[in-house]
Amino acid sequence: MRQAVREKAIALGFGLVDQTKIVTAASELGRNAMLHGGGGRVELANVTAGARRGLQLTFIDEGPGIVDIAQAMQDGFTTGTGLGLGLGGARRLVNDFEIESAPGSGTRVTIVRWR
Ligand SMILES: Nc1ncnc2c1ncn2[C@@H]1O[C@H](COP(=O)(O)OP(=O)(O)OP(=O)(O)O)[C@@H](O)[C@H]1O
Ligand SMILES: [Mg+2]
Repeated sequence: MRQAVREKAIALGFGLVDQTKIVTAASELGRNAMLHGGGGRVELANVTAGARRGLQLTFIDEGPGIVDIAQAMQDGFTTGTGLGLGLGGARRLVNDFEIESAPGSGTRVTIVRWR
């Protein structure tokens, strides 16, 4: 998954720093889907807004979902053994960040890094 994200970022003309930002965000969100969501899938898409081009990634799982999204987004909050920095860190590494989740309905996180 990381390699596929990097290849798409390169194809879009992202520089090394931007490649690394979206790959790192993808790694955190993929790990969350595996660890907290019981596994999931990721969709990669090229998106445009006027002349801007971006890479959009959507992480989808059918796990338990998140009861309190604002709390989950806070740095240092974890229900596991991690540092609780994944979601906040991922948000800071991209331009657009959207999370939809509800108990029993799984979790969907959509991010975009614009070039
Ligand atoms: N896909 C998901 N499904 C269910 N709960 C999630 C999901 N992603 C995140 N969470 C919840 O949000 C909390 C915070 O996530 P975050 O990635 O910030 O920290 P972490 O995964 O616990 O630790 P770290 O990422 O720093 O190793 C998690 O502990 C978990 O309770
Ligand atoms: Mg995490």
